[in-house]
Amino acid sequence: MRNLSFSYGATSVLKNINMKPLPGKITAIIGPNASGKTTLLKCICGILKPIEGSVLFEGREISKIRKEELAKHIAYMPQENPAVAFLTVFETVLLGRLHSLSWRVSDEDLEMTLKTLESLGISELSSRFLSELSAGQRQLVYIAQAVVHQPRVLLLDEPTSNLDLQHQLEVLDLIKELTSEMRITTIIALHDLNLAAKYSDEVIVLNFGRVYAAGKPESVLSEDMLRAVYGVSAKVNAHDGVLQITILNSIRKRLAKKKCG
Ligand SMILES: Nc1ncnc2c1ncn2[C@@H]1O[C@H](COP(=O)(O)OP(=O)(O)OP(=O)(O)O)[C@@H](O)[C@H]1O
Ligand SMILES: [Mg+2]
Repeated sequence: MRNLSFSYGATSVLKNINMKPLPGKITAIIGPNASGKTTLLKCICGILKPIEGSVLFEGREISKIRKEELAKHIAYMPQENPAVAFLTVFETVLLGRLHSLSWRVSDEDLEMTLKTLESLGISELSSRFLSELSAGQRQLVYIAQAVVHQPRVLLLDEPTSNLDLQHQLEVLDLIKELTSEMRITTIIALHDLNLAAKYSDEVIVLNFGRVYAAGKPESVLSEDMLRAVYGVSAKVNAHDGVLQITILNSIRKRLAKKKCG
């Protein structure tokens, strides 16, 4: 991304964002609510068009790449999934393989769908309808849909928000493995800073639509940053080379206290 800025109407949301995420690495985008994480991911995959600056994919401006070609290379899992379609889990994941409107399904498409369902531990849900799943099960299905097509760029918006502790770690282990084995450029918006510390190679902190800091987790995830950006006091320690962040107190009031009754 080069000097990327975006506004919704007159409201400026992203200002002058520069970043160069790398293949084989996970870049975590963190920042408070409304700091612009989702908007940035939408600009990267071409859903939103920047008002200034550009997003380049292998040196080419993405707005000049045909939608079908872009969909082949970039997978995006939104933060909130659209109203649940009347599809089975298998059909939903298979859809991730179909980049054009030809709807031709190859043996490889079927094989990859089965393999992906298995690697995410949801094979037994294959014939269930999405509407019959728990929120966490559905999140695993949408992660499967994003990774099944072996994209060059993988964009995940809060992929672990509905998952239990074990699933959070297993899913991020899998994403880390895929990212490095297949040299995918993975960008994940995350609220959980301990997961960002454990899994990302680079962290970008957004604050009011600007990059507040960018770099390796150990240089970015500091007590000073948590105080300035999130308004919390925290302790940051390193354990076996992994940062551990303990949030202590809020030091800034955001919500108005109202007396009830
Ligand atoms: N469709 C829209 N139209 C107008 N404003 C929008 C729209 N979508 C988001 N915004 C505004 O843009 C800003 C950034 O929103 P965005 O969803 O990118 O934040 P975020 O960092 O992903 O937040 P969260 O952590 O809550 O997911 C917010 O102030 C939000 O109200
Ligand atoms: Mg968001």
